[in-house]
Formats: sequence, structure tokens, C-alpha cells
Amino acid sequence: MMASPPAGAPAPEPAPEFDFVLFGATGDLARRKLLPALFDAHAAGSLHPRGRILALGSQPLSHDAYLAMLNDEVLPALAGNAAAAAWQGFLDRIVYLQVDANADAGFGALAELVNARAAPVVVFYLATAPHLFVTICEQLARVGLTGPRSRIVLEKPLGHDLASSEAINAEVARHFAEDQIYRIDHYLGKESVQNLMAVRFGNVLFEPLWRREWVRQVQITIAEELGVERRGNFYDGIGALRDMVQNHLLQLLCMVAMEPPTSLSEDAIRDEKLKILKALRPIRPEDVAEKVVRGQYSRGAAGGDPVPGYASEPGIAPDSRTETFVAIRAEIANWRWAGVPFYLRTGKRMQSRVAEIVIHFHDVPYPLFPHPLGIMSGNRLVITLQPEESIRLYFLTKQPGDTQALIPASLDLQLNTAAPRVRRVGAYERLLLDVIRGRLGLFVRRDEQVQAWRWVAPILKTWENSPTPPKPYTAGTWGPAASSALLSRDGMAWHEEM
Ligand code: BG6
Repeated sequence: MMASPPAGAPAPEPAPEFDFVLFGATGDLARRKLLPALFDAHAAGSLHPRGRILALGSQPLSHDAYLAMLNDEVLPALAGNAAAAAWQGFLDRIVYLQVDANADAGFGALAELVNARAAPVVVFYLATAPHLFVTICEQLARVGLTGPRSRIVLEKPLGHDLASSEAINAEVARHFAEDQIYRIDHYLGKESVQNLMAVRFGNVLFEPLWRREWVRQVQITIAEELGVERRGNFYDGIGALRDMVQNHLLQLLCMVAMEPPTSLSEDAIRDEKLKILKALRPIRPEDVAEKVVRGQYSRGAAGGDPVPGYASEPGIAPDSRTETFVAIRAEIANWRWAGVPFYLRTGKRMQSRVAEIVIHFHDVPYPLFPHPLGIMSGNRLVITLQPEESIRLYFLTKQPGDTQALIPASLDLQLNTAAPRVRRVGAYERLLLDVIRGRLGLFVRRDEQVQAWRWVAPILKTWENSPTPPKPYTAGTWGPAASSALLSRDGMAWHEEM
């Protein structure tokens, strides 16, 4: 068990006074993630008392009607009585403003509001469709809101492919310097991902083993039980490779595989991640069929109830070939990782919601001890991001009693049980506070994003030109059989199949 943090541990620095300008304030992301995250930060006392939230939407809502909508749709999802007590104070921070990205009028009013206060930090969060990013930046520049105190947060997907993402990046860069641009990937804000860095680089134990000589394979899974929900129109033009692999999965892979950074400064970390993205062995079009599995869920069950197949979901074309599942066998061409397979997998409507990184170490060279299951060592480090956050180290130990047999055991390396009462900071909450405090380390730099698009490009292209549709898998399973075959060809199995 780990000890509690020392009493003298530094308190988090207070956030400066800010205006948080939220484009897309009536949208799904704002209601489900961003406003609850800002609320949590407010309730925890992490926001400056004069920090304001300017909620912008294209709908002609009165301020009171907007707050009523938050009462109905955001408050019920927040936890318990403590939330209710802090709620009014949170609403007092909010001002609703109707702003249509394509109309000048709203931006004039926005500038007046922002300039009247002159807060030292102004955050523009673009929780809108990406085709509006450039127009919004131009409008902000037109009304003089792109100065040094401004920061812009860009939600993914930033573009559709390398060319379109670079076109957006180039336009945004005309108005904002790179250190004003926060490309958000909320997986980087998850506690276990942060703790992975701490476990790797805060101890001497793992680093010598963290390489091809000792690691046999790495698995990174983000499985969702939900289907496409109400996002059909949006998702059908995107698919799992763009929605999850190009960003979340590749960022997690970087966190596992990168070299120790020279410091915790933002560019030291991002430089190391970039090296990994550059070292990813390209998947050539002729290798796509062998190294990549794409699937689409068909009718099945979720949580015990029957659910429709993807092509029958609202907003989806009945002949859609959009993938809802991807599995990839990736390799990193450098001295540390050459020859170690990195299996990446993500899917909607899978058997359960789980996000985890599993580092499988090699077996012992020779089995000295009898083991009923025939496992030679089973050493693995499992970093679970969802549904609960944990880091566990699995190993074999002696079965108690008059026997030499070994049994599997595990060590909890996270503070879950040691510090049960310490409040967990959610991914969006952490990242939004980072934006307000001006910390870029957990945001994706432009060159990283370019490199990630470059790596997925041949896969996208090959699928586009391929006559073969995605492989169907029954909703509520672990994906197409080809996904298991991807590993069994190497003599491996997915973690849950072991
Ligand atoms: C988003 C994707 O980035 O991540 C969604 O666009 C996905 O399709 C979501 O559902 C998953 O995030 P989390 O944190 O709920 O696993």
C-alpha cells in the first residue's frame, strides 16, 4: 500500500481570474462534459471567484431560459446534496449570449462584454463543428479578441484527414500563436494516465524493464458499451479510426512508449511523444488487411436489452460502411521497442465499458515451480482508465500451505484504496483548469497532430478504395473474430480472453 501524500505537498496553484467563452454552449459536449467539469472545479473552490462563463449558442434563448435548461439537463446528473448547495453560485458565473458564428452582430456584443472586464485570461472553447473553427477565429480577430491574454481550445476532430486538419491549423495559426492553442484530447487528462507517468518516471523499478528485452507485447483498449447514441449524423462521416485511434489511442501509446522526458515542461513531454509518433512503423496499403481489422456492430444486446445494429441507428445510412470498431497491430521502430507488438483496439457496443493499457512482460526462461494453470509468470502491469481508475501489477506468488505451487496475485499501485477520501479530478476538469492556468503539457502540439494523421492516412485511403465492407460483429461482444485472430497469429490473446 502506498503512503498518503506528505503533509507538506504543495497545494495546487489558484486559477487566475478568467473569462471562459464557450462556443456551442447548448450542445451535447457542453451539457454532458464541459459544464459539469467547470461545475466540479467551482464546487471544489478551484476557480477564481470572479471567473466568468460566457455561454454562447446560436439559439435565441433568454439568459433565464438557458439557466432553466441547465437546471433541467445538467444539475440532475451532478452528485448529491453538495452539488445542489454549490449550484446557484455556479449559475451566477454564467452569462448566456446568442452568437451565430456567421453573423457579425453577436461578436461585437461579445467583445464589449469581455473588454468591460479585462480579465487576465480569456479562454475560447470551440465545442462546435470543426467547419466553424476558422470562421470563429476570423470573427474573434475582427473584434480584437485574439490578443496575448486569449487562449483557444480546439475540440477534436480537427479536420477529416491530414490535408484538412493542416488547413484548419494554418488558418488558426494566422490568429493565434502555437502557445495560445490548446488541442484537447481528454484521455490525457485521466488520472491513471497521469499516474502512468508517475509510476514510470518516479521509480527506478520499471524503467529498466520497460523495453523489448522484458516486454513481450502491449495492449491498449478503449471499449464502449454505448452505441452511436444521438450522434449518428456526426459519427457516420467519421468512424472509429478518426474518432478514437488518430487521437486517444495514439496519445496513450505515446505515453507508454516515450523515453523519459528531460523535465516535466510541456515541450519536453511533447517532444518525446512526437518521437514515438515518428517512429511508428508505417502501415503500407498492402499490409492493411493483415494488420488492421475494421468492424461494424450488428443487432445484439447491451445491458441485457436488445439493441439495433449500427446501420439501423437514427441518422445512419442503411448501407453505411463506417467502422465502429478498429483493431491494429502497430510497431515502433526504435531501439527500445523494435519487434514488440502494440495492439490497439477500440469499439462501440462492445461487451463492457473498459479502457486499459496492459504491459505484458516475458515469461520466466524456465518454469521451476508447478503451476496449475501452466502460466510461466503472468507478469503484467494493467493500467485501467475505465470504469474505475487503477494500476495493478500482476505476479505469481506461493500458494499458502504445504505446496510449492504458485498462484496469481496483484499489487495496487494507485491511491484508490490508500486515499479513498481524496476527491478525484475528472479529465475535463483537469484540462480546463490547465487551460485557465496556462499549462500546455497535456494538450496536443500541431506537429504531433500532423504526425498522427500521417500514420492513419494509408489506412483511411485503403479502406476508401476497398470493395470489402467492415466485418460485422454482434452488439455486446468483443468485436469481430478477426480481432482475436490478429493476436492469435502471434501466439497472443486479448487480455480478457486470457
Ligand atoms: C470521444 C469520442 O472523444 O470520446 C466519443 O468522440 C467517445 O465517440 C468518447 O464516446 C469516449 O470518451 P470516454 O471518456 O467516455 O471514454
